[in-house]
Amino acid sequence: MSHVDLSQDPDALQRIFAGLRLAEPGEPVVAEPLPGGVSSGIYRVALRSGDWCVKQALPRLKVAKEWRVPVERVFHEIEWLRTAHALVPGHVPKVVGEDRATGSFVMPMLGSDHRNWKTLLLAGEIAPGVARQAGDVLGRIHAATADRPHVAERFDTGALFHALRLEPYLEEAARVHPHVADRLLELVARTARTRRVLVHGDVSPKNILVGPQGPVLLDAECAWFGDPAFDLAFCLNHFLLKAAHRPEDAARLMLCFQGFALAYAAHVDWELAASVDARAAALLPALALARIDGKSPVEYLGATTRERVRDGALALLAAPPAMLDGLAQQWTQEFKP
Ligand SMILES: Nc1ncnc2c1ncn2[C@@H]1O[C@H](COP(=O)(O)OP(=O)(O)OP(=O)(O)O)[C@@H](O)[C@H]1O
Ligand SMILES: [Mg+2]
Repeated sequence: MSHVDLSQDPDALQRIFAGLRLAEPGEPVVAEPLPGGVSSGIYRVALRSGDWCVKQALPRLKVAKEWRVPVERVFHEIEWLRTAHALVPGHVPKVVGEDRATGSFVMPMLGSDHRNWKTLLLAGEIAPGVARQAGDVLGRIHAATADRPHVAERFDTGALFHALRLEPYLEEAARVHPHVADRLLELVARTARTRRVLVHGDVSPKNILVGPQGPVLLDAECAWFGDPAFDLAFCLNHFLLKAAHRPEDAARLMLCFQGFALAYAAHVDWELAASVDARAAALLPALALARIDGKSPVEYLGATTRERVRDGALALLAAPPAMLDGLAQQWTQEFKP
């Protein structure tokens, strides 16, 4: 697969959009970079046929610590988007076409009535209703794919999930904190062997646009048939981190936490909801620690808050609450304004 940046490759762009009959003969096809992507090139292409978004996987992630992953992950993202779009069409973009030669795909560009959820949360625009909807969407995707052998076959991506999630987050945190390494590696092992649903792998507010119909999930490069608790804990972690960052909004952010978890739990019918909850509660402190000392540290926390999150996460790892509810209460105590 070529690693030529699509924005520098007018012939490839022309070929892709003409092939999809989205560009008229002779119509110029120009890729305008969108801000944000650390793992991909992501561009807007405005044509007479409409406003399109093209995403191309990059061979190296744009983060400080060395982190290389195969470009083929884009094909898992395409598969996830297609599978999830069929289940929750209003909440996942439609894949309009793919180009194997450049490792890219085209989807409709969501308009200015869609706003990035992370941006909204960090600006204090915190709507627990959006969190409930997002938990509901995730729960529906998990429930509809649970224990489906044909989905499991298509997303047999354990090695990639390890390279993209378990290694850079949890194993890196284990290297930095040898005294809790055993616990972290136990969580890695349990997560890796729990294969029940179609996991998105990067359910973060950064990857969710909030539009008139509610949340739209993007960025499924880490898709894996695996542990539902990972998606649940991964998203809840963002509410914990933001609550630590913005004490004035902590109460509403913890309502998002609760709303997401409750709406999600309503769909759990492939195992006891309490079992997924307990695994998510176990993973959460590890993920919080990983966003301080892993390979993808959270960028918006000040030095003092970083220390407090690290200490809070280590305390929870040492004495883990059995369930998400207890964990949320402890975090609220720790970070009350
Ligand atoms: N279909 C779309 N319409 C409008 N904006 C989009 C669309 N797809 C992605 N974006 C915007 O581009 C940003 C980056 O997209 P995406 O998350 O898929 O790329 P990425 O490089 O994998 O990101 P990262 O690694 O930073 O999470 C999104 O946060 C979103 O704001
Ligand atoms: Mg993203």
